[in-house]
Amino acid sequence: MPENEERASFSGKVGFVLAASASAVGLGNLWRFPYLTSHYGGGIFVIVYIILAVTFGFSLLIAETALGRKTGKSCISAFGELCSKYKWIGVLAALVPILIVPYYCVIGGWVTKWFAESAMGGLSTLASSGYWVSFVTGGETGDMSDPTAWFLIFALLCVVCVAVGVERGIERLSKILMPLLLFMIIGITIYEFTLPNIWDGVVFYLNPDISKLNAGTFMGAISQIFYSMSLAMGIMITYGSYMKKSVSIEKSARNVGVIDTGVAFLAGLMIIPAAFAYDHPDAQSIGLMFTALPDVFATMPGGEIVAPVFYLLVLFAAMTSAVSLLETVVSVFVDLKAIKRKKSILISIALILVLGMMSVLGFGPLATDIPLLDGGAGWLGIFDTITNNFMMPIVALLTCIFIGYVIKVTVITDEVKADGNAFVSERLFEVMIKYICPVFLALMLIVAVTITFGIYSPY
Ligand code: TRP
Repeated sequence: MPENEERASFSGKVGFVLAASASAVGLGNLWRFPYLTSHYGGGIFVIVYIILAVTFGFSLLIAETALGRKTGKSCISAFGELCSKYKWIGVLAALVPILIVPYYCVIGGWVTKWFAESAMGGLSTLASSGYWVSFVTGGETGDMSDPTAWFLIFALLCVVCVAVGVERGIERLSKILMPLLLFMIIGITIYEFTLPNIWDGVVFYLNPDISKLNAGTFMGAISQIFYSMSLAMGIMITYGSYMKKSVSIEKSARNVGVIDTGVAFLAGLMIIPAAFAYDHPDAQSIGLMFTALPDVFATMPGGEIVAPVFYLLVLFAAMTSAVSLLETVVSVFVDLKAIKRKKSILISIALILVLGMMSVLGFGPLATDIPLLDGGAGWLGIFDTITNNFMMPIVALLTCIFIGYVIKVTVITDEVKADGNAFVSERLFEVMIKYICPVFLALMLIVAVTITFGIYSPY
């Protein structure tokens, strides 16, 4: 969204919900949620996730949107506008997308590759055992040109979209393609239910095993909520600044939260049981989405057509998110340094190239043993852990303290009520922002530090 023009606003009620959902629904739901669920023990993670989403996710979504609408500013200026001493919270939030965009493009590149390969009749290649691992690691020869090329292709697509300014176009397109993706996810899941051996996975996914519950489950779930709902990185503040005063923040937040959580839940239901049915040893790894599904498509009647269509739709979901992430990064530099948009795009490209290449090569020549949480994923895992387990909880914690104790909660609750509607969850919101969120997030940070540095191991 162009900053320099007069501040545009979303068209009415659905405008905000659609735009915010298009940003929220992406690889977080389709790629990250399923493998984390697998990693953290199945059903118990799903339950913890849903409980935290309707309490924490919902409250923070309201808080950020209201902060944006109240100030009419994007993240960096929003904090400064309300209290100039705290502008740095906005700066910290804005750093998060800068670290996410590059590795997001790497995963987006994998999706592009899976689309291209399946479209060219290579479904059986994708379904062959160990294919994903050999693709990301460069196989026996260690030749990294393939993963590098697909990362560059996806990144280029995104950069071109932002440079040409066709965000509005893809957003409009995504209004048709997103429901289609949802429809396909449901269809594929129904097909899977006819497969033998599928039910073990369904039970794993839906039946919580309390013995798997530990502090790590909560940490994994809360950081996934931030990632998936695009929270604690300033993005919803910016979106809120484009929201009309007449639209209900509370209802919109509820809709966005339900859509995002619903898509994640369905994606998990589609992917995890498939991994069980086809006995995937790498079910807990970041490759889950890329290994489990090709097997399903390979056995499905008409799978040669379903697979490329599906990956194309995933590609679109990834692109809408990546483009809005990149747009955020570009406007951060414009806001922060008062530089021109063109120069800002160039800086963003340089960052994507450097950090993205580190992520790609982290599976090969740049492999590192730094013991971070999603260990084994090299630099990609490191960027993912730093942002999700450390930076986002810190930004969310600071946002809660800022709202609860610096500007006071009433500033936000008044904004939520400014549209003339009652704020139904006002009490819950207040208690969450002032007490529960700060305490919980501080605990989560302690958990993240202890797990990361091997002081505490829940596994
Ligand atoms: N929420 C997006 C997803 O689920 C990813 C994302 C994280 C994002 N931060 C963002 C998208 C900021 C847009 C803007 O894939």
